Amino acid sequence: MTSRIKEDIEAIGKIGKDQRGGNSRPALSPEDIEARLYLIERMREAGLEVYVDDAANIIGVRKGRLKEPYVSTGSHVDTVMNGGIFDGVLGVVGGLETMRQLNEDRVETKFPMVLVVFTDEEGNSFMPFVGSKYFAGEISNELSDLKGKYELISFKDALERFLRRVEGKVKKIGRFPYALRNHVELHVEQGPILYQRKVQIGVVTGIVGVQRAWVEFTGRQAHAGSTPMDMRSDPMISAAKTIEKVREIAIQMDMVGTVGFVEVSPNVINVIPGKVRIGVDLRSLSKEDMKKAISSVVSYALESSSPEGVKVDVTEFFEEPVLCSPRVVEEVKRSSEEAGFSYMELPSRAVHDSQVMAKVTDVGMIFVPSRDGVSHAPEEWTEWEDCDRGQETLKRTLLSLQS
Ligand code: GLV
Ligand code: MN
Ligand code: MN
Repeated sequence: MTSRIKEDIEAIGKIGKDQRGGNSRPALSPEDIEARLYLIERMREAGLEVYVDDAANIIGVRKGRLKEPYVSTGSHVDTVMNGGIFDGVLGVVGGLETMRQLNEDRVETKFPMVLVVFTDEEGNSFMPFVGSKYFAGEISNELSDLKGKYELISFKDALERFLRRVEGKVKKIGRFPYALRNHVELHVEQGPILYQRKVQIGVVTGIVGVQRAWVEFTGRQAHAGSTPMDMRSDPMISAAKTIEKVREIAIQMDMVGTVGFVEVSPNVINVIPGKVRIGVDLRSLSKEDMKKAISSVVSYALESSSPEGVKVDVTEFFEEPVLCSPRVVEEVKRSSEEAGFSYMELPSRAVHDSQVMAKVTDVGMIFVPSRDGVSHAPEEWTEWEDCDRGQETLKRTLLSLQS
């Protein structure tokens, strides 16, 4: 029902407005917690039993005739800095609306259903996919090592700050103990394909992997005027060369490569910087290509730094590309067809919690068009009718996966 999806997305979109534009709701920030509180209220109103686990995932359960396994859906409500209002939120709100409609239609399912709001999908707070990695059992004790990137807070303190606000409203559990049958995520495409081709539903066949590297260049901080050009150890030069190389390698290897993060220390016009830190993000459907590309980037960073006398330190993060389950792909197609929506198959070129969930269950994703293919920007937009079509397809898919 358009009005409820629109109402929920608009309400969450008012939380964490950034003065620079868009929304900034990094995971477990005070703003993200407000959005979470809003959702917990709506989940309770929808009759879900609401749990929070040790990774701060919000887990809303709708009982079935059997105790397990669960048919699962969900996404995230944290945003990138200066992000839009649909990324992640549509999947959560679409799952919630589905539960409401099933209640109104008095649908009793054989398998129980669960709606999960995953923590820090974007990784702008602690690490990408904290929630889904924990849910899937891939991390446990690692939670206690996580530190905030923008806010200097430990994960433990951020979790406690959240738990204090939801006391009495949710049940606290360690980790969701039941098996899943499958996991289906509704999301905006975030790219141009559906919009350009005027297709209503994207049936996602696979999700790209992501290879990241934080590269820190350390030189010698000095005076911009009085230090002769041949007496400098300037990390900005090595960083700049490496940034350009990322683009060159990505084009050569038919993948995408971005440096969206640069931190210059002390970042002053008349000072040769002492340190420059860059964040490299490479994406591909081929794990081997990403591994080759990152090793070329790192070799180049080392090579171009040595004549400058600059030291290089690298920290990597990698998440594998995955294929969606053929069964889920078929059910999404059939659901779109039965609902009378146009659809096409396509891979996801953004990363999602579903690729982490693929390690423990069959996954699939449903995409709806993003205006002009824009996302991770304040201009991100999806028509309300498309949100509805996505949710209708999600509902039909989740029901078809009951058998
Ligand atoms: C998440 O949205 C990503 O693709 O980085
Ligand atoms: Mn995103
Ligand atoms: Mn997302």
